[in-house]
Amino acid sequence: MKNIWVVANWKSNKNISEALAWIDQVGPELPRKDNLKLVVCPTYIDIEEVKKAVLVGNYPLIVGSQDLSPFEDGPYTGEESARILSDVVDLAILGHSERRENFGETDAMVAEKVKRAKEFKIEPLVCLQSEETLVPEGVRLVAYEPVFAIGTGNPDTPANAAEVAEGIKGRNGQGLEVLYGGSVNSDNCKAFLQQEALNGLLIGKASLEAEEFLKIVDIASKIV
Ligand code: PGA
Repeated sequence: MKNIWVVANWKSNKNISEALAWIDQVGPELPRKDNLKLVVCPTYIDIEEVKKAVLVGNYPLIVGSQDLSPFEDGPYTGEESARILSDVVDLAILGHSERRENFGETDAMVAEKVKRAKEFKIEPLVCLQSEETLVPEGVRLVAYEPVFAIGTGNPDTPANAAEVAEGIKGRNGQGLEVLYGGSVNSDNCKAFLQQEALNGLLIGKASLEAEEFLKIVDIASKIV
């Protein structure tokens, strides 16, 4: 049985009370299945509160971050190191195209971040903008996220996403789990989830609404 991941990337949305309202609504409804991996990646400020709420409710939800520092602890103003984050997160989205575009993140920085994450047992989920994007050593979870599809309402086709996923595995190893991300919602998610080559979804906008996210999780839980 392959793993299916449903990963919510809240980006720069939700203050603490909004984050907790989402958890209160979503948490109790989440299905428990060993190979269904449900993840939420809140803003840094929300992470600790979200983690506490998940632990108190005993919800089957992994808490992740949307980034982490390429450096160790030290004089790096504004950065969150992997060691510090590892108190509260088990996964980190790395190399998202929004970080590459807006914050000058390079493949070399992503590779450093992957190293830091792995040192502290944080699972790196590396975003690949195309089949050619570099996959740093030691990564086993990636998301194919074509830039044209992110936040545009214009997703890639499930067939093409599956083809790219095959290409990524061909270049980097069949053991990789490849998610798809870019304008996924409850209407189109099933077609992506049905692709043999894909291991789930990385969801931005549609993950912000609790009900919409739950619809997607429900569809994934019937396929897994
Ligand atoms: P979107 O974002 O679902 O809003 O297109 C996906 C992502 O950036 O991971």
